[in-house]
Amino acid sequence: MENNINNNTEKKLALFNVKPIFNEELPETNNLGPEEKAAVMRVMDTGVLSAFVAKFDPRFYGGVEVKKFEKTFQDMFKVKHAVSCNSATTALQMAVAAAGIGPGDEVITSPYTMSATPSAVLMNQGIPIFADIDPDTFCIDPADVERKITPRTKAVLSVNIFGHMPDYDRLRQICDKYNLILIEDCAQSPLAHYNGKYTGTVGDIGVFSFNFHKTMHCGEGGVLTTNNDKFALRAQLMRNHGEVVVDFMEENDPRRNEIILGNNFRLSELHAAIATEQLKKINHLTEKRVELAEYLTRKLKAIPGITTPLVRNGSSHVYYLYAMKFDANIWGISRNTFIKALRAEGAPVAQGYVKPLYLIPMYQNKQVYNESHYPFDSKYYDGNPDYSKGSCPVVEEMFEKTLFTTNICRYPLTTVHMDLFISAIQKVWDNKEQLKALDLRNEQKNESMAAITSHFRY
Ligand SMILES: Cc1ncc(COP(=O)(O)O)c(C=O)c1O
Repeated sequence: MENNINNNTEKKLALFNVKPIFNEELPETNNLGPEEKAAVMRVMDTGVLSAFVAKFDPRFYGGVEVKKFEKTFQDMFKVKHAVSCNSATTALQMAVAAAGIGPGDEVITSPYTMSATPSAVLMNQGIPIFADIDPDTFCIDPADVERKITPRTKAVLSVNIFGHMPDYDRLRQICDKYNLILIEDCAQSPLAHYNGKYTGTVGDIGVFSFNFHKTMHCGEGGVLTTNNDKFALRAQLMRNHGEVVVDFMEENDPRRNEIILGNNFRLSELHAAIATEQLKKINHLTEKRVELAEYLTRKLKAIPGITTPLVRNGSSHVYYLYAMKFDANIWGISRNTFIKALRAEGAPVAQGYVKPLYLIPMYQNKQVYNESHYPFDSKYYDGNPDYSKGSCPVVEEMFEKTLFTTNICRYPLTTVHMDLFISAIQKVWDNKEQLKALDLRNEQKNESMAAITSHFRY
């Protein structure tokens, strides 16, 4: 890589057919090693790839590897319960069910997240209500959360997007004031901390993901964390066919009264064994991300019109993605043209993150289950959620004009790659006058966002 920088003296933009700054594919992250292989073989040798049974006996809680993983997770994250499952999508569904959300209930959440977050509410027949985001953290804005509370609100489902978190002090106060359950989607924020606590233990329930794109991964997997015994029990019931499992309990066992529709959200022994090995690496992998991100932040300060990620006092950022804001007034070109030029230089950048979720057809049509409008027209529900364009102006602005991200801060990349990234941005800045004409043409063509939005490994 060193040579690439030194040889690359080309000052003209790669967009105009000259050599890009990054002239090699960036190496993929592969953090699997002999430890994971040995763990898999150990499980294979037992002949038991999953040990769950949907009965209320010790097998209800899964096998040796599942229990070992959960215990390790609890100790590491300093939380009473870690209920493993096969994804964050299912952990979110368990979290919403554990909180007792059902028909007629509203849950306030972020529109700037993976669709699984609000879908978990709909899967439990509840109604997602979207609060706008804070323009500095990109997480839900507590003031808008408070504005959107109604007598039907039961929970706030906040997302620690990109690896950082909202103002949890304020969210906690609001939840306490209105008697709401606070759920954290930590799929992107394992090990991030807030006032001395890990995310996932700040709210009442936390949810983590171990899919391929995350800092630690095990194929597919997730965990629900909580210090609340009832929430943990309900999550365990949902994970493993709860409606039939309660029938195995003693007649006078109060847990028999838990009403829950169970599922198969179980983590296999193989996945759990890999996840336990990955937990041993997550600290190091996260430190690497933080180190590279902080380097990038220091260097990017020299470039005008780019706002680097905010790290709130008393908290940390784990940089699942490194998200920046682009100031079109300072650059004199649109963010989309800037991204186009930067991508031509080979820089791994994407614009906008996801479309604010209330704008996707399912919410626009309020149509989830076939032709019906259930649960929006349920007899239990008397609200009318506003999913109109303009209802959350900050997130729309971020998506359309301002926010861009890179996944460059990750193992095994180094500061050499960070320097290339800075050089690419600097080169676009130096040539921005040339881009103005292109910008105008793009505007006239009304080029679609989708055409130039890249997909990283997430
Ligand atoms: C914020 C957020 N929530 C939930 C999920 C769902 O995770 P999983 O793929 O483990 O179901 C993701 C996955 O990317 C995510 O980023």
